[in-house]
Amino acid sequence: MLMSSSTALPSSLGTGHAGIDHDHEELMALCQSLPQTLDDELPAAFHALHTRFAAHFAQEDALMAQQDFSSRQCHLDEHAAVLQSFEDVGAALREGRMDPARRMGAALIDWLPEHIDALDRHLAKFMFYQQTGGAPVLIRRPGRA
Ligand SMILES: [Fe+2]
Ligand SMILES: [Fe+2]
Repeated sequence: MLMSSSTALPSSLGTGHAGIDHDHEELMALCQSLPQTLDDELPAAFHALHTRFAAHFAQEDALMAQQDFSSRQCHLDEHAAVLQSFEDVGAALREGRMDPARRMGAALIDWLPEHIDALDRHLAKFMFYQQTGGAPVLIRRPGRA
């Protein structure tokens, strides 16, 4: 597999939840590697990306199942929509069409930071507040936005 030079997520997209942040870094790296993946390796790479996203969404969905807050249903719906796209694009890939999978990888590179900023950060902040009564303090690494 060819690997791209990865552009890590800016630390401004940190949620303050170590497990979620680790997943986001890994998901972004997988998304960034997909466009350079050779055709014969694309089905396995796409399947790995789908599996990793599904596991991450399942973790966040489980966290949200324990909470009741304003953006919960919107957040669950976004996860479900992305997983449906993985199913649809995976079906095209099984028919030998590579372009939708490559386009989805590129689309996810744009979508993931927006999703983190709009919904995941809200979830992490809400959970932190529920546990401590305060807001998390995020420490940014030097040289990263
Ligand atoms: Fe999410
Ligand atoms: Fe997330």
